[in-house]
Amino acid sequence: MVKDSEHTASIEVQVSHYFDEAAAVFDTFYDDQRSPFMRWVDHHFRRDMYERFERTFMALAPLDGKTVLDIGCGSGPYAVECARRAAARVVGLDAAESMLALARQRAAKMGLTERCTFITGRFPDMAPNQVFDHTIVMGVMDYVPDPLGFLRALAGCTRQSAVISFPSFHWFRGPLRIIRYKLKRCPLWLYQRDQIAGLLQSAGFASFQIDKIAGAGMDYVAVALR
Ligand SMILES: C[S@@+](CC[C@H](N)C(=O)[O-])C[C@H]1O[C@@H](n2cnc3c(N)ncnc32)[C@H](O)[C@@H]1O
Repeated sequence: MVKDSEHTASIEVQVSHYFDEAAAVFDTFYDDQRSPFMRWVDHHFRRDMYERFERTFMALAPLDGKTVLDIGCGSGPYAVECARRAAARVVGLDAAESMLALARQRAAKMGLTERCTFITGRFPDMAPNQVFDHTIVMGVMDYVPDPLGFLRALAGCTRQSAVISFPSFHWFRGPLRIIRYKLKRCPLWLYQRDQIAGLLQSAGFASFQIDKIAGAGMDYVAVALR
């Protein structure tokens, strides 16, 4: 019989493996390097990724002098943007080393390496021993087997506010996405609004606002205050 801890560890390895393989393609979302066809697909089906980005920075402004932890920072678009917006210190944490290599390149290209630190690790097992003014968790809850444990640890690292996206089960994109990820051996979790509210409350956030983003993906974006 497979123990719970062994099962979780195997899920974590699958997720890291998936993102190590996907890193180079994933990065092109943010850098306008996609083919005309993929740009059309993004425009019609992935607008939510761009809206998530805009909403995050509206919720966190002004960032001047703030400290930020970006969990599952991927290729670093949020972390580097925080530094560009004058955050004093930004830590990006990610389980996939190839994503972090891209994040370091992004920070170097923007001349922002002094205020950005990128560390390899899986939250919450690897959590910086520090509290940050703001925390960002974008596009990550899809791959987290224990969301309550994750969000409790997140609350512990957050002084002011956390911005977290949660994937919803969209009638069209949801089943397709689950099949696509299953074929790539990457497990996936999708959420309902009530479930998100319950999780944030149990995790220790004092108040929160949950909005559903328009677009085919229809992610929820939660801004949660300590
Ligand atoms: C879809 S990407 C999102 C990257 C970035 N936040 C963005 O929105 O562009 C998800 C990232 O989360 C990372 N990840 C997944 N679970 C994680 C965990 N428990 N701790 C740290 N990183 C994690 C993956 O390695 C991957 O790079």
